[in-house]
Amino acid sequence: MVGKTLTGCLLLLTIVALNQAKVYTRCALTQELINRRFPRSFIGHWVCLVESESGKNTSKIYNKANGSVNLGLFQINNKEWCEYGRQGGNCHVKCEDLLDEDLTDDTACAKQIFSEKGFQSWDGWKRACYGRKLTIPKC
Ligand SMILES: *[C@@H]1O[C@H](CO)[C@@H](O)[C@H](O)[C@H]1NC(C)=O
Ligand SMILES: *[C@@H]1O[C@H](CO)[C@@H](O)[C@H](O)[C@H]1NC(C)=O
Repeated sequence: MVGKTLTGCLLLLTIVALNQAKVYTRCALTQELINRRFPRSFIGHWVCLVESESGKNTSKIYNKANGSVNLGLFQINNKEWCEYGRQGGNCHVKCEDLLDEDLTDDTACAKQIFSEKGFQSWDGWKRACYGRKLTIPKC
């Protein structure tokens, strides 16, 4: 009885978790960034950054060697920018909320990081995008 209930709960949680994970195509991501008013001249670089950092996966979690965690599409780091359990960090956002499909908080935080530190803040950008001429993807 208890076992069945537990199994049911786990199944439900799994379904909820799967529902919240979304992997963008390059074109859908480009459109999303345009809709969210990212400057067109930088969108090629943002797409490259997201591909390099998260593989366009909204629920990507990466545990860094230094004990901090990178979260979501933009792989935003918990040490500086968010807090677990409540809104916090420099972006005043809950870390958990950076893993769902709603990109409102993610994009606001990514723009804030960019305005404070630039693309250099992202290792994935430095690795894959730095120094390249990246125009907006043709869709
Ligand atoms: C997206 O990231 C989550 C968490 O890291 C992972 O469990 C899931 O398999 C990823 N999805 C894809 C399609 O790579
Ligand atoms: C770990 O790395 C992140 C991102 O590079 C950085 O913001 C954070 O301060 C580092 N944490 C520690 C404990 O060194």
